[in-house]
Amino acid sequence: MSKFIWTEQFKLGIEVIDQQHRQIMDYVNQLEDALGNGKPQKVVSKLIATLVDYTIFHFGFEEDLLEKAGYPYLKPHQKSHATFAKRIADFRDRYDAGEDVSKDVDALLSMWAFDHLKHDDSDYVGVVVEFLRQNPNYFSKKPGVFARLFK
Ligand SMILES: [Fe+2]
Repeated sequence: MSKFIWTEQFKLGIEVIDQQHRQIMDYVNQLEDALGNGKPQKVVSKLIATLVDYTIFHFGFEEDLLEKAGYPYLKPHQKSHATFAKRIADFRDRYDAGEDVSKDVDALLSMWAFDHLKHDDSDYVGVVVEFLRQNPNYFSKKPGVFARLFK
């Protein structure tokens, strides 16, 4: 199993989003560790639930931002999020059913980091950066966002 290392290549340059992406990778790494070290089911299940919850929160956050910014490819982007969310949910269901899913974490991560992040997310950067330049207080007008980020 390979531990994923966050590097500059995954940075979009939008701090809030970068932080959320990093958090997702961190959760996937923790999950990989837990599976690799044969941690009890209770621990693994909790990590999977955390990953699912956080990812859904992040997708909602991102989609909301893309909508406000007027990103023209919001619909296909939402579709890509839905596919990834389904992959995680399948992963959880298979783990709960007693399957050995440890080999699938790498595939999950590579789908997330290389297909989605490097490809789909990179595409919206220009539109979002311009939107945030024109609306510098956008995040501070959204109460609860930062509380959720740093909980
Ligand atoms: Fe995305």
